[in-house]
Amino acid sequence: MSIIEELSDIFGEAFKSLDLPRELGNVRTSDRPEMAEFQCNGAMPAAKQAGKNPREIAQAIVEHVQDHPNLKDVSIAGPGFINIFVTNEFLTKYVQDVQLPKLSEGETVILDYGGPNIAKPMHVGHLRTGIIGDTLRRILDKVGFHALGDVHMGDWGTHMGMLMMDYIRTSDESIVMDCNLEDADAVQTLFDDMAERYPKASGAAKENPELMQEARAATVKLQNKEEPFLSMWQKIRDVSIRAMERNYGLLNVRFDLWKGEADVHDLIAPMAERLKQKGFAVQDDGAWVIPVERNDDKKKYPPLILYKSDGGVMYGTTDMATIVERINLYDPSRIIYIVDQRQSLHFEQLFRAVRVSNIVRDDIELTFAGVGTMNGTDGKPFKTRAGGVMRLSDMIEMAQSKALERLNEAHLAQDMSEEEREKIALQVGVAALKFADLQNQRHADYIFDLDRMTNFEGKTGPYLLYQAVRIKSLLRKAAEQGLNIADDASFSIHEEERALALLLTALPDVLTLAVRNYTPHVLCDYVYNLAQTFSSFYGNCHILSEENENVRSSRLKLCNLTLERLEQVFELLGIECPERM
Ligand code: ARG
Repeated sequence: MSIIEELSDIFGEAFKSLDLPRELGNVRTSDRPEMAEFQCNGAMPAAKQAGKNPREIAQAIVEHVQDHPNLKDVSIAGPGFINIFVTNEFLTKYVQDVQLPKLSEGETVILDYGGPNIAKPMHVGHLRTGIIGDTLRRILDKVGFHALGDVHMGDWGTHMGMLMMDYIRTSDESIVMDCNLEDADAVQTLFDDMAERYPKASGAAKENPELMQEARAATVKLQNKEEPFLSMWQKIRDVSIRAMERNYGLLNVRFDLWKGEADVHDLIAPMAERLKQKGFAVQDDGAWVIPVERNDDKKKYPPLILYKSDGGVMYGTTDMATIVERINLYDPSRIIYIVDQRQSLHFEQLFRAVRVSNIVRDDIELTFAGVGTMNGTDGKPFKTRAGGVMRLSDMIEMAQSKALERLNEAHLAQDMSEEEREKIALQVGVAALKFADLQNQRHADYIFDLDRMTNFEGKTGPYLLYQAVRIKSLLRKAAEQGLNIADDASFSIHEEERALALLLTALPDVLTLAVRNYTPHVLCDYVYNLAQTFSSFYGNCHILSEENENVRSSRLKLCNLTLERLEQVFELLGIECPERM
């Protein structure tokens, strides 16, 4: 149980004793720490239900809990708010034993948060989905789910046919086929070649119907597993995966499954056959579609297209087959898509289509967790100065070199080898990028501001790392001086430390909230609040220089616990913290 849960229990009992619903006793952290540590606002709705005066009800509740050993002070404010302070003993117990919530007994959840197309460089559009998706995977895993992240590459469309035909037309197949995957330089060369070729090939095919026809034919041959297409495709895919692994690796974004659209190709025909037979798919102007409209719709929902009139499959078809595969292989209780918000209509059609056709049981939760875009100062999705799409690798490099500049300005990491400093700059730069992204509401857009996000002050990744490193160095000094850290028996909390102690107990409830709506930003608010609160504690209280042995060792313990909590959140956000800087 978390501290909030235990308090809610106490007040829930009180409401129950008045024949009122238990949930009205729900307690939360106070909005106004100077007035209360916790508050319970159930008296107002209770009064409405019972047709009574809220202050009277609040009074009865207060009388009921008055002598509870965990409560130090309970009072009524305004129309019937109940303000709560807890005892030192109660707080001390919780601070030392914070248990993360267990919200599942290992149910499988699949998270779909990759989506890069192979043969194309990853760009900034892949940043948000990757970072947010990976964090959600870490969070769900931590609270007891069996979370599986799937990269779900776009590896099976006409874009493959266009690219392969381009190599064949220029007699350059050997550039692809001879590439040695173990040689990083060769991999990079081929990757750059594809990145340059693809836009040209695709532009040409769009203008020239003959080329388009060839590209389509090549794609069909690939899908029939014919040579040389299959081998070429495999090479292109492998090289692309190497590049993705590098980008995602730098960002600390991990996947359990490296699957793509191609993996479900063979499931499409039998699935479509069944859908036709059962009458879920109908013919429409030569195409096969699944109608998804409902009577109470306020707007129009176009059907999901299974087969175009030329027999080609669509984005929705592969996504449907992927759901079939995921259910067969992993038996998930939830599938969560962390994808650009602008694809919401596609996912609504998809979810409706798999529900009406009974591909997905009612008890399996399908969620579209849409994400906003990272914009430039013009309010449009971020572009390079030249107006092109910015590669993800360039953006990471930019963040790293800016972080290095910041470290130098702040005279940090100066006594280290260049190599070590570079490594720390990468950690700081990536923390800046990730924290700037994760702190926004998932579906909100935000403006990319490298100066702000790399600052060592403010709500930034570098600020958080700096606070954690400062605690590490303080604890090292304490150890060098042979100072003790309080044990359970000697640990005590004093007035000026209560705000910090209270926050240290709050992580379980924050985590529960982050899971409820798939919103990692609440963890960012929490960790920033914790770092700031620690900072004022550090400014106001003597620690190493404190003369009273009990006070000092208890404060060292609070430092230790703060670091523990910060590191727990860093791990959930996939942020690495240096030992020193
Ligand atoms: N490859 C897609 C794109 O570039 C994103 C895939 C998202 N995931 C999915 N299951 N549809 O837009």
